[in-house]
Amino acid sequence: MPEIHLYQWPGSVALQDVKFIHFTDPHLDVGSSRLYGLEPAARLQACVAHMAAHHGDAAFAVLTGDLTHDGSVASYQQVRTLLAPLALPVHPLIGNHDDRASFQQAFPEVAADQAGFVQYVVRYGGRRFIVLDTVQAGSHEGVLDAARLAWLRQVLAEDPTDPCYLFLHHPPMAVGMPRSDTMAINDPGFEAILAEASNVRHIFFGHLHRAVSGIWRGIPFSGIPGLSHQVALDLVENDGRIRGSHEPPSYSVVLLRQDDVIIHQCHFLDDSGTFYL
Ligand SMILES: [Fe+2]
Repeated sequence: MPEIHLYQWPGSVALQDVKFIHFTDPHLDVGSSRLYGLEPAARLQACVAHMAAHHGDAAFAVLTGDLTHDGSVASYQQVRTLLAPLALPVHPLIGNHDDRASFQQAFPEVAADQAGFVQYVVRYGGRRFIVLDTVQAGSHEGVLDAARLAWLRQVLAEDPTDPCYLFLHHPPMAVGMPRSDTMAINDPGFEAILAEASNVRHIFFGHLHRAVSGIWRGIPFSGIPGLSHQVALDLVENDGRIRGSHEPPSYSVVLLRQDDVIIHQCHFLDDSGTFYL
């Protein structure tokens, strides 16, 4: 029997170690096999095969949006098919390229809040993992309106001491990439809720199509590369456009141990092999 590590968070239930996967932005489109010279379906298939072969012991995975590029039901069904080889639960959320109604038609088992937004909570190891819906139809910009923020405030207040981990598509903050930053959430109401709650331990997001991490308003965060194309590191973007790149994709392997968060990047397409130092 594997040893189970228990930790007593002050005033909370006992915590167990948790290993999970964070992956994002596969951008599938059944109408076109290629996107920016790449093959999104083949990439998702390769990612899933790599996860199953190397990290099948993870408790779950979170897919942080832009499941499809075209928002069609057929593309979501293809996502379902490609995720099927994974034995672990996959908890998806939606991004600016997704269509909420099509998503919910293809993934009817995914929970929604009372207003129909794709927002829900899952629990593992005495911790709460909170999924948010930042999509506004017809726009690429992220939003958390009053109804969605009220839902989050209520969820966090249900137990103000247990550790919580947030998942959303859009970054809540500007990251120094001017064009991309116009799509960030940047909502003082969101910041106020996090400050009031004080039990959010990490924020995970997609959307940027490149790796970024740091601390924002005292909370650690991590955004990761997309499974499809990437966005070039351009801190000027003075022509108002976003430059793409073919930098390699990756997914994250996250280890939660006591109150620690450890994040590894896994470059699943790298075939250069390994060797002993
Ligand atoms: Fe995306």
